[in-house]
Amino acid sequence: MKFFADTAVVEEIAELNELGIVDGVTTNPSLILKSGRDILEVTKEICDLVDGPVSAEVVATTADEMIAEGRKLAKIADNIAVKVPLTWDGLKACKTLSSEGNMVNVTLCFSANQALIAAKAGATFISPFIGRLDDINLDGLDLIADIRTIYDNYNFKTEILAASIRTVNHVSECARIGADVMTAPPSVIKKLASHPLTDNGLEAFMKDWAKTGQNIL
Ligand code: E4P
Repeated sequence: MKFFADTAVVEEIAELNELGIVDGVTTNPSLILKSGRDILEVTKEICDLVDGPVSAEVVATTADEMIAEGRKLAKIADNIAVKVPLTWDGLKACKTLSSEGNMVNVTLCFSANQALIAAKAGATFISPFIGRLDDINLDGLDLIADIRTIYDNYNFKTEILAASIRTVNHVSECARIGADVMTAPPSVIKKLASHPLTDNGLEAFMKDWAKTGQNIL
């Protein structure tokens, strides 16, 4: 499963990049706001830092305007994936932009039927939002599993990009189900390395080591 960083903060991406675990980045208008940066400038910096797809989202609501914005965003770098919302106009923009050779990430997906029609409209990535479904007492992971089954039934090449990930369990469950990609905030990605038994075990080893009076270096 590929790991995308769900952030527009360059320093956070650079820190994860030290381990070579960033396969791509997703941003959205809220994350751009949080970064406090100009969208074109910060997206360019992120594209220079990361080899994989960097999603940059359009903000227009009509297909023609989305296409114009998407073309401008796609000019930032070769690894831009234009992000469009899962509306009828968004699907029209998806069709045009993907036919022109751009990667397109169709976002704000909350049902299997939405994922099905996005794949048929040429989406490179479909972004089902797990956490936001959980927030309204539905099961976001069930949606990932349904889309996996449907895409496999018909050999759709659209990649399932599990989004709105809030917990480390979301990550392992997405991997178990077979999501192609997961995008998570850097704080969640860093938590994947944590376990209280690791901390306890290390503390005990350090105490015993101190008692030996030895040094390795
Ligand atoms: C994905 O592309 C979105 O940017 C993101 O995962 C949304 O997450 P949220 O529901 O936590 O805002």
